[in-house]
Amino acid sequence: MYSQALNTKETAADTSPEATRFQARIDAEDRIEPNDWMPEAYRRTLIRQISQHAHSEIVGMLPEGNWITRAPSLRRKAALLAKVQDEGGHGLYLYAAAETLGVAREELTDQLLSGRAKYSSIFNYPTLTWADIGTIGWLVDGAAIMNQIPLCRCSFGPYARAMVRICREESFHQRQGYEIVMTLCQGTPEQKAMAQDALNRWWWPCLMMFGPPDGASEHSDTSMRWKIKRFSNDGLRQKFVDATVPQGRYLGLTFPDPDLRFDDESGHWRFGPIDWDEFRRVLAGDGPCNRERLEARRKAHDDGAWVREAALAYAAKQRIAA
Ligand SMILES: [Fe+2]
Ligand SMILES: [Fe+2]
Repeated sequence: MYSQALNTKETAADTSPEATRFQARIDAEDRIEPNDWMPEAYRRTLIRQISQHAHSEIVGMLPEGNWITRAPSLRRKAALLAKVQDEGGHGLYLYAAAETLGVAREELTDQLLSGRAKYSSIFNYPTLTWADIGTIGWLVDGAAIMNQIPLCRCSFGPYARAMVRICREESFHQRQGYEIVMTLCQGTPEQKAMAQDALNRWWWPCLMMFGPPDGASEHSDTSMRWKIKRFSNDGLRQKFVDATVPQGRYLGLTFPDPDLRFDDESGHWRFGPIDWDEFRRVLAGDGPCNRERLEARRKAHDDGAWVREAALAYAAKQRIAA
């Protein structure tokens, strides 16, 4: 998940009439809106999840942005530009949704730039070849869709509504990525080898996007009870593997997992163990590109200072004129 399926600490059970009414509304699939009563822990969980998601969209523009000037044709360049702009738009809807919970956008930006906030570990890996751009669309956006479709039914209205629009765009991203990989696989042996190499490097980090295994998730049932989360991390990861393996096999690609096999009995693709040490290292700031990504965001923020100042000066003038 772009918010890496964080878990919520269970606080002492709240038995107040408001809390009982709140849970009854959730159970009835009612949407909670910003001005409605909500438990503080629900508000905090959502602020954290939505802002991590927003940060992931914004940082996620960087690995692909690297290739805009090097896209192999005008058509590819136009599609990639549009995709990267979409991701910026996703960040904006999500920051706006987080703000309805009473947190300022400036505070969230500060958390990201100071390194206090997390974003998805996947964006700390480098994009080495053009095949990485296709593979990101196919796998990273594919994993994002798997996670985000259930969020369209999240109990918090502004988040759920933002996700409806985002999911439509993510599905275009996934298709454009798969089409790039398909073109490479139907090309020269060198192009196909490039696609295979990208799959080899991105496969395991993509499986990590769904967050830690269910057994290691303490208290994860609170998010389920509040209907912020609808499926477990392992459940979503399995859905992703089941959907993606046939797509890779159709292209004649192999997956970098000697244990990958189809289990007739369950109807699922079984996969080997995930390197959770790598996941923890990358999440803690020690991935291949963590420093570079934060530096790029800080520079963009500093370079944009004059725009924010000008907007504030304009707003102040308008107030005086009014
Ligand atoms: Fe996105
Ligand atoms: Fe996307």
